[in-house]
Amino acid sequence: MLAAMEQFDELMVCRLSQTHKAVEPCSIVIFGASGDLTARKLIPALYQLFKEKQMPADFRVIGFARREKSDDSWRAELRQALDQFSRTKPVDDGVWTQFASHVFYCQGEFTDLPAYEKLEKQLASFSKPELRNNLLFYLATSPSQFGQVAEQLHAAKLLHKEGEHGWQRVVVEKPFGHDLASASALNSELVRFAHEQQIFRIDHYLGKETVQNILMFRFSNSLFERLWSRDLVDHVQITVSENLGVGTRGGYYEEAGALRDMVQNHLLQVMSLIAMEPPVSLDAEPIRDEKVKLLKSIRPLTSAAVDKQVVRGQYFAGTIDGKLVPGYRQEVKVKPDSNVETYVALKLFVDNWRWSGIPFYLRTGKYLPLSASEVRVQFRPTPNVLFAAQCGEKLDPNAITLRLQPDEGISLRFNGKVPGTSTSVRPVRMSFNYNSEFGAYTPEAYERLLLEAMTGDATLFIRRDEVESAWAIVDGIRKGWEGKPLTNREFYAAGTWGPVAADELLAERGHVWRNPQPNQGSGSFPQI
Ligand code: BG6
Repeated sequence: MLAAMEQFDELMVCRLSQTHKAVEPCSIVIFGASGDLTARKLIPALYQLFKEKQMPADFRVIGFARREKSDDSWRAELRQALDQFSRTKPVDDGVWTQFASHVFYCQGEFTDLPAYEKLEKQLASFSKPELRNNLLFYLATSPSQFGQVAEQLHAAKLLHKEGEHGWQRVVVEKPFGHDLASASALNSELVRFAHEQQIFRIDHYLGKETVQNILMFRFSNSLFERLWSRDLVDHVQITVSENLGVGTRGGYYEEAGALRDMVQNHLLQVMSLIAMEPPVSLDAEPIRDEKVKLLKSIRPLTSAAVDKQVVRGQYFAGTIDGKLVPGYRQEVKVKPDSNVETYVALKLFVDNWRWSGIPFYLRTGKYLPLSASEVRVQFRPTPNVLFAAQCGEKLDPNAITLRLQPDEGISLRFNGKVPGTSTSVRPVRMSFNYNSEFGAYTPEAYERLLLEAMTGDATLFIRRDEVESAWAIVDGIRKGWEGKPLTNREFYAAGTWGPVAADELLAERGHVWRNPQPNQGSGSFPQI
């Protein structure tokens, strides 16, 4: 019987990737090859893809950076990094040796045309035409260098290989600008040298399995999509909490803050997937069109609305995992009187037919009690008769929680009778847990993103109008904060769930934050 059921499941698997283009042989050039991102994320992801036989039949990786290095010394450096950062350990020597034979180094300044001509020669020396013509340029550099690199690539005739087959793409990392004006300027600079279709802007949250599952969950089930509107939803909570502080990134964080670092990209991306309308197809452009429409439907915040709808916070010294940690103002490279927010909570409204009047609460912060990302869709309470009339607020409203990380899963919370002679009702859960259903398979976001960039599928990358629409929202909030230092009610102790003001933000409508809970045992979905 079980075997028959499994066979049935097998027949019902809808394999979308069958229509996916195969990955053609290509060369990947990493600018900023000596940097942290290359060592921590890019090389481990490429190695893993190679190990799992997902890389194209042939490929080259060329690291481009300022420092003098040989192919061999760069390989040795990468090997060390891999020992530390590989998703699968120990690193397989045989696989590494094969992988390393595809890896090369090119020394040069980002502004120096002869260095790009040298790169061009190196690429031209590859015997297979695909390795010469299919080129992925990964800009793991500071955004201030994006324009220079694109300009020199263009000058060295590497961005548009005329008269030859193949493709040339540019992948850029965040932060993409620090406000709308700078993001638009950066976009204009890039499109002087590359077409929009060649530009792949990364938001690593889109590479996460559970974030991709949001669209599958919503649009491959008639059950949930019918509930997904103002008719039944009371409000939505999106929480991305981290139990780490700013660590060694104080300098960067002083310029960024939680709003630019997390909300402009990751939280608004998750919100747009949760709230967008069904796209006309699963191709990149229709999906991105719907995300942009959603971002544009978010009601802009005037300065008066910012005071009412946005709460900032900054951590002071407190306890994390039993250890005393310093406050933000005591972190390295942070000003002792800094007003930069390490926490932000917002109440947003989407002015469209589906969501009119429904609050979306978003929050993120450093040094909160737990690292977890969750979306909770809370449904309206039942009419105030029968159980609700007697139990009042004690009757828990139904909720669906999408746990994005860790302990990935989806859980539906509803009420049931407590067995026994008394008549009591309490919440119970129906849960789907990735690990118990599919086994512990959690590919790193960068593996998926690199693969998609190689295949040329832009679905998981941010389009120009998306990035700009998100900045427009953030700019409105920053304007509301201008010239206003943090007040006492905006500080929180490290290891707590943020400032009290954030609770008050929800209390106005009788709502409360539901905090993510730690996993309670192997494979089980945390109690929510
Ligand atoms: C990055 C931010 O984009 O995302 C970091 O710059 C943050 O500050 C990180 O810690 C969180 O990503 P993840 O994948 O660990 O949730």
